[in-house]
Amino acid sequence: MRRPLSRRFALTSMSALAVLALAIGGVGAGTPAPPPGIALERLSVTTPLTNKTPRPTALPGLPSVAPAAAGTAASGTAKAAPQPARPHQAPVNCAKVKCVALTFDDGPGPYTAQLLKHLEADGAKATFFLLGQQVRQHPELVEAQAKAGMELGNHSWDHPQLSALKKKSMNSQIRRTNQAIVKASGGTRAVFLRPPYGDLLRSQRGQVTMPLALWDVDTLDWKTRSTKATVRAAAAAQPGDIVLMHDIHESTVRAVPQIVKKLRAKGIHLVTLSTLMGGKVKEHIEYGAGLRPDR
Ligand code: NI
Repeated sequence: MRRPLSRRFALTSMSALAVLALAIGGVGAGTPAPPPGIALERLSVTTPLTNKTPRPTALPGLPSVAPAAAGTAASGTAKAAPQPARPHQAPVNCAKVKCVALTFDDGPGPYTAQLLKHLEADGAKATFFLLGQQVRQHPELVEAQAKAGMELGNHSWDHPQLSALKKKSMNSQIRRTNQAIVKASGGTRAVFLRPPYGDLLRSQRGQVTMPLALWDVDTLDWKTRSTKATVRAAAAAQPGDIVLMHDIHESTVRAVPQIVKKLRAKGIHLVTLSTLMGGKVKEHIEYGAGLRPDR
């Protein structure tokens, strides 16, 4: 990884983080504050961005088409025979009920198909922050995500530190990834941009029209690689929180059914980020508290 060591452990002032915690239905309220300096995905220097293990083109366990979604995709057939209800949730009003947005970064990868199975079995929605290079490698997974009603987000092409890039390169990272997502998903656009490591210069933010999606709860799943620790961290999410995880880790994917169960037991709906925001997603708005506030 080419992370400048000197920047890895630059601490973030928690008070400044609190300032950035936008009023999105109680974000941060009651959330146990993570220790300073480890709240940022930027520290995920060990996250393998390129899996050295050769990947099969078709991952085991992935349905080529989400069964119940297949019928609704072809609108012309809907009238001929009643189709089973689309597995999408009825609209959830997060202004009235408790909601949490689970988000998964750096995929799609070898465990994404299994994660989709878990989410669909539980009727839960999530948002995936995809790397363009992974999308190109596994377009079928992105298509399955879109068909399952998951939300898609842009996490750059190959996970560079965007703050180190010139405008042209940064734009290229974002644009190519957006294009790859639309192509792979069959027309679904990425709604949000999550800059790798939450790192984007303040001066760069004005150049990005996509809303920035950060996070409120960093599960540190990439670091612990522990299903138990990931369940504990994610299940501590409070209503309004955005939870950061990585579906490139098997330990994380294993944690998801328990996370869903525990949050549901607290009356929390698992929704996409857009739903969490009440559908009022705006450009140039930063959602979540995880962005470096100091630059
Ligand atoms: Ni990442």
